[in-house]
Amino acid sequence: MNPLLIKPPVMDWLTGAFAHTSALKKSTTAADLANVFSDEHARQRLDPNLIIYSVEMLDSSRDDGALFTGVTHLNPGKVGDEFFMTRGHYHARREQGEVYFGLRGSGLLLLQDEDGNARLETVMPGSIHIISGYTAHRLINTGNDILSALAVWPAVAGHNYAALQHGFALSVKERDRQVQVVSND
Ligand code: PA5
Ligand code: NI
Repeated sequence: MNPLLIKPPVMDWLTGAFAHTSALKKSTTAADLANVFSDEHARQRLDPNLIIYSVEMLDSSRDDGALFTGVTHLNPGKVGDEFFMTRGHYHARREQGEVYFGLRGSGLLLLQDEDGNARLETVMPGSIHIISGYTAHRLINTGNDILSALAVWPAVAGHNYAALQHGFALSVKERDRQVQVVSND
């Protein structure tokens, strides 16, 4: 075998599962998401060990200019009437952007600029989401299947969760069996 011929990591595009590689995995449980959902009492009633989402990341370089690649698997479900979602963040280096690719399931990507203007993009298999710098982002699963999305972002970007400790401007809830967007002013 030619030593210059490298076998890259492989992804199953239908499920977002990595193969031929050792991915790093981090799961986020109901206990980890205190005060993230509108109905904190409903969150406390969930099994604290219930996995809301997990992220698998390729173990790649952190050198200058490096890119990280990770896949988020967000389970279906609700806390009270609010759909399961990721914590959401700005990047620590706020000017750094990111790209998300929808792989599986259906949901929304909540984007919010620094003036608090929020918008939603529909996430579905094949969707491409260009997240500009200075833009907070959160995935929301509005479907009945796992929502999986691939993300690629600069290794220097980092995460800033504290800036959103009072939440985003919009929440996404189920009302009368419909997906409803609620403004949080
Ligand atoms: O880099 C990203 O934006 C994603 O990989 C997220 O980190 C992932 O979806 C988990 O969300 P959060 O970091 O807001 O908990
Ligand atoms: Ni990010």
